[in-house]
Amino acid sequence: MISDLPATDSPTSAFARDVLAGLSATPRTLPAKYFYDERGSRLFDAITRLDAYYPTRTERQILLDDGDAMVDAIGKNAALVEYGSGSSDKTRILLDALHARRTLAAYVPIDISETFLLETAAGLREAYPGLPVLPVAADYTKPFDLPDLPEETSRIVVFFPGSTIGNFSLDETATFLAHVAEQIGDDGALLVGMDQWKDADVLRLAYDDPEGVTADFNLNLLRRINAELDGDADLDAWAHAVRLDPDARRVEMHLRSLRDQTLTVLGHPFAFAAGETIHTENSHKYGPDGLGALAEAAGLVRQQRWTDARGWFAVELYAADGAGSR
Ligand code: AVI
Repeated sequence: MISDLPATDSPTSAFARDVLAGLSATPRTLPAKYFYDERGSRLFDAITRLDAYYPTRTERQILLDDGDAMVDAIGKNAALVEYGSGSSDKTRILLDALHARRTLAAYVPIDISETFLLETAAGLREAYPGLPVLPVAADYTKPFDLPDLPEETSRIVVFFPGSTIGNFSLDETATFLAHVAEQIGDDGALLVGMDQWKDADVLRLAYDDPEGVTADFNLNLLRRINAELDGDADLDAWAHAVRLDPDARRVEMHLRSLRDQTLTVLGHPFAFAAGETIHTENSHKYGPDGLGALAEAAGLVRQQRWTDARGWFAVELYAADGAGSR
């Protein structure tokens, strides 16, 4: 085990620790959360606009088509808490519908990037006059406190769009749902966007676009390792690779070594044979059974499901088991 790492808890040392642990493991892995430095976030943004990458566009359309029904299901005076809100782009569709009917008590965007969060909050206050926008800078995968909510708040509704839930491992999903269940309590709800398992060619193209943006996004991990962890990856010696696992219903991204080579990170050498891969992301897809047993284990039951005509993406509403329908 690698032990000569900085003992501090700085983001760099966490990155270093995770990279060295992942490259020492069998099979080799790197955590997908490290895709998102500034360049990676821009690349992901570009992915969401690609013809091949249908999830963002499809979810937007569901929110546009079924936003009113979602507003009905959310009920009056809810506080909408969005995990990983980013630019709150998609949320604006839902906020438009909620605000038009003046049914929302507050919007609580949660994001790790404080500067971006505060800028977004200011823009939302302007766009939705009278709506309390209460940003919280936090990592939503860890416990955090909600701000004081307006007195009239009837329930907490967690909004988790984008199929980000698909990037969690099954254990992480179980922990995440338990945390959500605790946060929403007996009266609240979870509104979650989930990509659906579908034709292999459609899935493959979405994660291996002809423009090569997803490849660049994946390879950005090696760029980061070079820049931040004194890595010596030759980017021309690695290729983006996509694998489908129909049993686990997931799309996997890997970085494939194109030759026998040694990748050195912070002075630690890792030998790779030609063809060997580093597993960088899982993107789990769901089916008509939704979160199924995972939701059940967290004490959540599905109350509603909205999908597009092709059934490619779904937005589902869960509430505490035993909560009455609204
Ligand atoms: C953020 N997440 C839902 C994306 C996905 O589809 O799993 C990340 C992504 N990876 C490759 N393309 C997009």
